[in-house]
Amino acid sequence: MVTEQLAVVILAAGMGTRMKSDLPKVMHAIAGRPMIRHLKETVDGLGPARVVVVVGPGMECVAQAVAPAVTVVQHDRQGTGHAVMQARSVLGDFQGTVLVLYGDTPLLTCQTLERLLAERHGPKDPAVVVLGFKPDDPGHYGRLVVGGEGLKAIIEWKDSTPEQRSIPLCNSGVMALDGRRMWALIDRLNNDNAKGEYYLTDLVALARADGACCSFVLGEVEELIGVNSRSELASAEDIAQRRLRAAAMADGATLVAPETVWLSWDTRLGRDVVVHPHVVFGPGVKVGDGVTIKGFCHLEGCAIADGAEVGPFARLRPGAEIGQAAHIGNFVEVKKATIEAGAKVNHLTYVGDARVGAKANIGAGTITCNYDGFDKAFTDIGEGAFIGSNSSLVAPVKIGAGAIVGAGSVVTKEVSAGALAVARGSQMELAGWADRFRTRKTAERAGKKKT
Ligand code: UD1
Ligand code: CA
Repeated sequence: MVTEQLAVVILAAGMGTRMKSDLPKVMHAIAGRPMIRHLKETVDGLGPARVVVVVGPGMECVAQAVAPAVTVVQHDRQGTGHAVMQARSVLGDFQGTVLVLYGDTPLLTCQTLERLLAERHGPKDPAVVVLGFKPDDPGHYGRLVVGGEGLKAIIEWKDSTPEQRSIPLCNSGVMALDGRRMWALIDRLNNDNAKGEYYLTDLVALARADGACCSFVLGEVEELIGVNSRSELASAEDIAQRRLRAAAMADGATLVAPETVWLSWDTRLGRDVVVHPHVVFGPGVKVGDGVTIKGFCHLEGCAIADGAEVGPFARLRPGAEIGQAAHIGNFVEVKKATIEAGAKVNHLTYVGDARVGAKANIGAGTITCNYDGFDKAFTDIGEGAFIGSNSSLVAPVKIGAGAIVGAGSVVTKEVSAGALAVARGSQMELAGWADRFRTRKTAERAGKKKT
């Protein structure tokens, strides 16, 4: 659904000096994806007719992250009001509501924005509606000054009096503006203030001076914290993780110790999945129904089919596909490999660039030698094959269905289906040799001591 009445401007030109980072602030990740991508998805849920993202010079990575949204560059960062001015060339003729969001407030939800828009389109026809919140520590947020007839002004912390600093109601930065009235107000912004910047927040007082109504809607603190430092990034991550864990459990997964499980924005867990303590889900993990994941596993970019068992201490890397009821045990690493239904890779093994056929059994310490320092090569292990412990399969190599590889083999040639391959030094025996050796050595030692 496209809402013809809605355009969105996301401000993301600030580098975020307090992050002390080479990466633009909005590219720092929460739950495995950049903050700006969280916001973009939320905004897309509103079905806006247009989205404009204001970026700083050299922030191509931000433009890529929000594509196909239009980006405009704010060359000199002169404040949030100045940033919105940069979007004028794209939105100047827009007659609907313009929603302004800050790229560093990534946990906003669609429902809250809908409440803000409902107020904007309500009977009071406010020129500006601000999303306010009451954080435990109002710190340096701008404060909302509320009078009898709605919102009177927003005072930035640096410009505020001690009395204004005691106001608990803060500005989240989210604003819904009437597109027909906003540009005339923005034209009147000045930078005569503590920071020497064009504050978007001054629009409220300017609109009120014209006799227009301004109002605010109260939002949840957990959605509205701004990320300006690494420590605030960690707080936002914490909130995002709690949301994701709650959603996973609501969908029928057991998290034995939820606070120790780390999820990504796109983690998909099926019904009756049991996740034991200390499991990390990186981006791109899909888990089917009835899967058990034991403690201390690290998973990313992989799929686990119904009824499989993984871990403890397993690492599934991108391209790992674990089949139905397959077992992946401790200290096993799987990369870009398909482990077919019912196969077992239970101990101390590396499987990379490979197929392990259905019901095959891979012994402890097996390594697919997939890399020669230049190229990667494929190992194909047939259905029902048995690879003896401590074998090296030097790729490219094929093990036929049902074949057995003797323990300790270094396999460099194809093994036919149903065959036994043993590729190691063959065992020899010299009867009594050890006893004779010991007798000789003991005599030598005794002779040395006498002299
Ligand atoms: C801003 C608000 C403050 C509010 C707080 C909420 C103003 C003047 N102040 O303060 O009232 O409580 O957010 O988190 O709006 N940006 C640009 N170009 C610029 C300056 C900023 O694109 O020239 C972007 C930044 O990248 C950031 C957002 O605007 O995403 C907010 O800027 P920031 O400097 O973090 O504002 P705060 O001081 O946090
Ligand atoms: Ca901020």
